[in-house]
Amino acid sequence: MAREETHIPGAKARNQRGSGVSGLKSGSISEAKAANSASRAVNSGSIAASSQVAAGSLLSVEHLSVADVAVILAMTARLERMDAAERAQVLLGRTIALLFYESSTRTRTSFELAAKSLGATTTLVSDKSSSIEKGESLKDTGLTLRALGAEAIVLRHPSSGSASLLARVTGLPVLNAGDGMHQHPSQALLDLRTILLRLGRDASTVDAKTLDGITLVITGDILHSRVARSNAMLLPRLGARVVLCGPPELLPESALGMGEGIDGGGNIEIERDFDRALARADVVMMLRIQKERLAGFDLDLAEFIVRYQLSEERLAAASPKLLVMHPGPIIRGLEITGEVADGPQSAIEEQVSQGLAIRRAVLARALGVTA
Ligand code: NCD
Repeated sequence: MAREETHIPGAKARNQRGSGVSGLKSGSISEAKAANSASRAVNSGSIAASSQVAAGSLLSVEHLSVADVAVILAMTARLERMDAAERAQVLLGRTIALLFYESSTRTRTSFELAAKSLGATTTLVSDKSSSIEKGESLKDTGLTLRALGAEAIVLRHPSSGSASLLARVTGLPVLNAGDGMHQHPSQALLDLRTILLRLGRDASTVDAKTLDGITLVITGDILHSRVARSNAMLLPRLGARVVLCGPPELLPESALGMGEGIDGGGNIEIERDFDRALARADVVMMLRIQKERLAGFDLDLAEFIVRYQLSEERLAAASPKLLVMHPGPIIRGLEITGEVADGPQSAIEEQVSQGLAIRRAVLARALGVTA
């Protein structure tokens, strides 16, 4: 899908050493709507936000063309080939802020270690230990970080559209590390790289046919999952078939619209029977039930386990080559058994390692480093 590029001269001068970083379009209608509602929710007031987003931002997979994804994968491979000393020069002297309003282990740590391994200075601001606790808005926190010299911000926030909002108010490149139930683009990219490597494919590039013939089953709490949404938007554009699986409470029919308006986005279906879905799967991605977003829901967990848990018996009935994935956090004994999570078909730890690799590339891209 063609994407227009937006470059903000001010942001460019402030943020980029090189040039030629592919940019982002200035925002889709749905994103603008989400950003508007986030601005209400987060700041309880209106913001005269610019409609532009700095080049190098990573807000949603929706904004990434297949060519952009190929550039990020090539950059990931290039950074991986460097030795540690060379890598530590890439962002030497640059400053990156990590702004986390929700708990996180893998995403926060991997962004931080990725930035540090490239030589950048990082600072972590979390809602528990900052003026956010005193009621400071996302906008004011972002402007403060910018005034202190942050050149890019990695944001995790419970409101959908918050990353877009922060990008607009600060003019800085913003990397969305998960915004509410909306998007988690770096997770989809690391999942993609894990799949390519485990399938024995070239992980340094992609095109619209790279995943032709591959069926990915995503099972569990899809309704609340930004990971499911980002993967379901990205992987069909590379040729994969995405099968969503779960009970109607966690997977409404409307989930079929996830890929709407995106090339290849029609390659999504719903299959309620997990065993039937697994029989066709090359890759299965299990998702945790997000209890913190389930207030008011009455889900029968015992029934969920019977119908949807990835157990050794289920795995034994599927293809011996089936690749097992999970973005974490894992709730052992609920959506997946410990034996399967630790078993030879599991790529769960590799996903975490690929998180470090991919996040180096998206941080370098955010700060204008070109391949
Ligand atoms: C997920 C998230 O926070 O979106 N985890 C992650 O980033 N690896 C999934 C979850 O919270 O269940």
